Amino acid sequence: MGRKRPEALRLPHAVIGSAPHSPRGFMDFDFDTPLELWDTHSSKFDSIPRVFGTDDRDVIPMWVADMDFAAAPAIKEALRAEIERGYFGYYANTSPVDMVVADWLKDRHGWEIDPSWVRYTHGVISGFGDVLATYSKPGDGVILFAPVYHAFYRQIEAMGREVVESLLKLVNGRYEMDLDALGAALKGHEKVVVLCSPHNPGGRIWSAEELRQLAEFCAAHDLILISDEIHMDLTFPGHAHVPTCVAAPDHIDRIVVLTAASKGFNLAGGETGLLIAPDKGIRTAIDKTILDRESSPNRFGIAMTRAAFESSGDWLDALRVYLAENFDIWKDRVGAIPGVSVMDMHGTYLSWVDFTGTGMEDAEIKARILNDAKIAASPGTQFGTGGSGHMRFNLALPRATMMTAIERLEAAFSDLQ
Ligand SMILES: Cc1ncc(COP(=O)(O)O)c(C=O)c1O
Repeated sequence: MGRKRPEALRLPHAVIGSAPHSPRGFMDFDFDTPLELWDTHSSKFDSIPRVFGTDDRDVIPMWVADMDFAAAPAIKEALRAEIERGYFGYYANTSPVDMVVADWLKDRHGWEIDPSWVRYTHGVISGFGDVLATYSKPGDGVILFAPVYHAFYRQIEAMGREVVESLLKLVNGRYEMDLDALGAALKGHEKVVVLCSPHNPGGRIWSAEELRQLAEFCAAHDLILISDEIHMDLTFPGHAHVPTCVAAPDHIDRIVVLTAASKGFNLAGGETGLLIAPDKGIRTAIDKTILDRESSPNRFGIAMTRAAFESSGDWLDALRVYLAENFDIWKDRVGAIPGVSVMDMHGTYLSWVDFTGTGMEDAEIKARILNDAKIAASPGTQFGTGGSGHMRFNLALPRATMMTAIERLEAAFSDLQ
């Protein structure tokens, strides 16, 4: 296509994150110095009094899936340029950004798309709503593999569809789908399947074979498959995300991918998601939904998305190393608390911790973590069936803050030692 590929993306995939190979070196990025985030309209910080009922600023926020890190320099630069221009009207002609997105997906994830497949939504969950509105009606079933990210439940219910849970099985310490059980339980009103890939809260990357089997299942039962790949860029070094469309090329006529730069680059306040549908019929139907909603892209979110994918690959690679190190320390220490088990993960920064071995009820686990450890974490019960007895902790924070959280957790459960 003769498109110019951004310099930052030419790094060979095999060495990404494994060494300070970037021309600038990893040391340029500081994830260690805490930022002051109280009173900045950070949902993760400033919603704590409302959600957790405490004004105590000693509480460590480990709930909302944002990182406590400043964005990559190129992203701040891109916003500065928008502000300097001073024109903030409606946004049109996404094609240069479509190409940047296509290059990123190809170079980072080995997924070749046509840039014309890309649509911009007001965040991934808004795009999820667009797909549900297009491919289901009130009363239809929408399948989720539980436990899973809680906003899917709320959106499905708010739109009057029925949540159909397919329970993930725990096999050798990791989650697996049970398509035989799901097939046997289908009632015929199910229209859409939602897969979270990589998985939130389990942190695992689904294998190509698992993805292919799921796509085949969807074809056999005439279901639309939504693959939420928002965490695609947050894999630990040595692990590669598997795009569902790459794993299941024979079924791309029923797959809609929802993704974003927002998780990998910490841009969630930019409320910009990417909806990618290889099938023309799907794109036409979704375009009508988007048009009916009079929805046009967020200028600032698009500027940030572009700067992330075009020029911030080295920042991301430094981050992936930092997050993997955080997780290793966390798993060693927290996993050593009697009765507590930390699920192994391949990526994301959301650690799924099983407290069932302590014999405590959910209320006591929650109370010890909030009141004794002074940590605001996400209760597992938010993530549907299978979440009871668990808590989800966000590890995207400076190492010293995480160490304090670990020490407080050890103390809060010290009677179990
Ligand atoms: C799997 C998954 N999908 C979607 C979202 C939310 O995306 P957005 O804020 O773009 O709607 C999150 C946020 O944590 C998530 O983990």
